Amino acid sequence: MQCMTTLPQLLAMFSPCSPLATLIFFSCILHFAQQASTSSFIGQGYRLISIQIAPDAAIHALLQVKQTNNIYGADIPLLRFYAKHETENRLRVHITDAKNKRWEVPYDLLPREQPPPLKQSIEFLTKNSTWVSEYSGSELVLAYTPDPFSFAVTRKSNGDTLFNSTYDDSHPFGPLVFKDQYLEISTKLSKDASLYGLGEHTQPHGIKLNPNDPYTLFTTDISAFNVNADLYGSHPVYMDLRNEGGKAYAHGVLLLNSNGMDVFYTGTSLTYKVIGGVLDFYFFAGPSPLNVVDQYTSLIGRPAPMPYWAFGFHQCKFGYQNVSVVEEVVENYQKAKIPLDVIWNDDDHMDGAKDFTLHPVNYPRSKLLKFLDKIHNIGMKYVVIIDPGIAVNESYEVYQRGMANDVFIKHDGEPFTGQVWPGAVYFPDFLNPKTVSWWGDEIRRFHELVPVDGLWIDMNEASNFCTGKCRIHEGRICPNETQPWICCFDCRDITNTKWDNPPYKINASGVHAPLGSKTIATSAVHYNGVLEYDAHSLYGLSESIATHKALLDIQKKRPFILSRSTYVGSGKYVAHWTGDILSRWEDLGYSIITMLNFGLYGIPMVGADICGFFITFTDHEELCNRWIQLGAFYPFSRDHADLNSPRQELYLWDSVAESARNALGMRYKLLPYLYTLNYEAHVSGAPIARPLFFSFPSYVECYGLSTQFLLGKSLIISPVLEQGKTQVNALFPPGTWYSLFDLTYTIVSKEGTYVTLDAPLNVVNVHLYQNVILPMQQGGMVTKEARTTPFNLIVTFPAGANDGEATGNLFLDDDEQQEMKLGSGYPIATYIDFHATVREETVKVWSQVVEGEFALEKGWIIDKISVLGLNGGGELQSYDR
Ligand code: NOJ
Repeated sequence: MQCMTTLPQLLAMFSPCSPLATLIFFSCILHFAQQASTSSFIGQGYRLISIQIAPDAAIHALLQVKQTNNIYGADIPLLRFYAKHETENRLRVHITDAKNKRWEVPYDLLPREQPPPLKQSIEFLTKNSTWVSEYSGSELVLAYTPDPFSFAVTRKSNGDTLFNSTYDDSHPFGPLVFKDQYLEISTKLSKDASLYGLGEHTQPHGIKLNPNDPYTLFTTDISAFNVNADLYGSHPVYMDLRNEGGKAYAHGVLLLNSNGMDVFYTGTSLTYKVIGGVLDFYFFAGPSPLNVVDQYTSLIGRPAPMPYWAFGFHQCKFGYQNVSVVEEVVENYQKAKIPLDVIWNDDDHMDGAKDFTLHPVNYPRSKLLKFLDKIHNIGMKYVVIIDPGIAVNESYEVYQRGMANDVFIKHDGEPFTGQVWPGAVYFPDFLNPKTVSWWGDEIRRFHELVPVDGLWIDMNEASNFCTGKCRIHEGRICPNETQPWICCFDCRDITNTKWDNPPYKINASGVHAPLGSKTIATSAVHYNGVLEYDAHSLYGLSESIATHKALLDIQKKRPFILSRSTYVGSGKYVAHWTGDILSRWEDLGYSIITMLNFGLYGIPMVGADICGFFITFTDHEELCNRWIQLGAFYPFSRDHADLNSPRQELYLWDSVAESARNALGMRYKLLPYLYTLNYEAHVSGAPIARPLFFSFPSYVECYGLSTQFLLGKSLIISPVLEQGKTQVNALFPPGTWYSLFDLTYTIVSKEGTYVTLDAPLNVVNVHLYQNVILPMQQGGMVTKEARTTPFNLIVTFPAGANDGEATGNLFLDDDEQQEMKLGSGYPIATYIDFHATVREETVKVWSQVVEGEFALEKGWIIDKISVLGLNGGGELQSYDR
């Protein structure tokens, strides 16, 4: 419940008879009480008592509390402030208790430089006494105000202030607060700033952060149709894009902290209210959006390279009752001539929803293996789900081995009991090295049983159908067969501990729910005494790392893993989908926003459940039709639906099948481009799907655009997002754009313009920008087939060009190698630059093999070159081999 009202309005509306008003009232009272700490801050905060540049070229300083209070607990008296220009374009600012070590994101989980031990800083500061006033790097400069202490980060090249925690009367925030369970720091923002990030949330107002919308971060299993609520992932990072006199500057800010937090964005300031850990800021200088993601992913880990087949189309559904049903789905796709690369199983293949088992009747091993042989022979792949919750069942071997190895999260010395699909479960503690080995071994055993090609790790926020400390009620059947998601335990409220009931309440689940609501109790304990309170949001990341290691060890090739919960750095291991959305037109649009955000978080392999997960329409043919037109251009393209949703495979309606053949047909022709973007993402963090401002950062009109997106730098997708519409009003940044489905159709946008595009039921608009060479192939029913077909190059010049250039590139390899790399040790990997010029009606197109070889014997042939833009428009000139 979010407070959207003022205190007098609230008091006027309070009626004890209305449950909703009561809920709003208490939520708002809490909100105002929580705001109160910032309204009277004179004399508060910290003062600088010592500051030095140390021999490691870092700043060390001590901050002493000025005046203590007990709101949200006692102030920590002395803080160590540490800052370092870690690279030319990255500044780190780390603030922690100077005397006692505090929780922070583990360095083995997210490898990075460690600040020196506290003792070393204090010794150094007591021996040295010269003060520094400013700390300058190549592009970023750190300055500070001593009393009350605040700091600012500025950009050298234009003098712009990027972050400034100094408060004044014009900003509604106070000074630095640092308590055991409450940290608060704010920054002023430029009025021209557009901010993006701080997810995972479904953002109804678009990709640009919206002033006064709540941004709470705490990994939570609440369905993604809940707008502005803390969803499955936690990414405390934002990009700030500003346009100064026609020139764009972007920078990024990461607060590397895994504790729950609220981030309040007013439009002119941003306030972090965090319930533990340390303040560990990283500032990335940009200045372009691509530079920011490059700098960000060079710190947190580059996106995992994905196998080629992962760019094919995927079909899944909760409720494929047996192997024959799955077989039939594959056959129907083939009959309908709709491309399909990957078939998935949700919980259905399991015996009693227990991980790593097969249902003896519905999914007998011999039948499943026969089916897998068949699909593997044509290059198709198979992925299954696993949940972290391990069924508590004495006769279940996975459980037995887990208990023998002591791998589960504990509460009061006993494994913590939760409830998920199989009923009672224990949760593996992936921060424990023993758990990582046990998990790897379970995956190995399962892989010997069923040679799956990839894994889907779900419910890893972690999700629990119960809240509190629960035990199974003697004699009760649990879970309830028809509604397994209803908690059927006896549960005790444990909000009496400071970890379950911290003094500051974040807006958990979007309703200020207790922290441990529908998850592992936050007073539960991991390996080495780590509290769930601190490590909660790292659960998905730690499971991703363990699963990635397991698959790599077993398959010895590039793993494919899909994870619902993610944290900073997850992209190095997994792909992501946007979770449980509704089959509503709004959700179709929201999926673009969440997808684009994940590109910023370094998780570029992302998509939403095509056609929606929970089906709300009795007949959603038109929606499904439009959804596949959009979803065919998600980096990760999968149709998936809930157990109780009707079937929605694309062949079920003629109109949808036709759209699927068109849109997926185009996707399969674009595979070389998508795969090259996969490579770019891996080496530089560049998102595969990008907001338009990535290619047009100075074009302010596109800063908040959330209904269209780019694939790579030059393909713009403009889908229909509204029911009954057969036209799209689409923005085209300045330049010439060519329709990819009809190369002769040209849009010349002089200064940027909105164009009304026709979009009859089976048409999706995709346009290619000028000065580009786009490598395409002929498509096919599976990626294995499509990738052996001859290439076409589409070369685009600005309309009517007499003098112009175009460039493109192509990455090729066998996709089996773990790494996606060029050079020695990677003989198959090939990288080609394409160039073209037009000068006085003479067109030249040539390629330069930068690495590897463009080998004929591999079937790599350029069959056709199409040139666009000569002679005043989109007239097509084709050159066949
Ligand atoms: C929740 C996931 O979000 C959904 O995709 C899946 O179908 C169900 N769990 C069942 O496994």
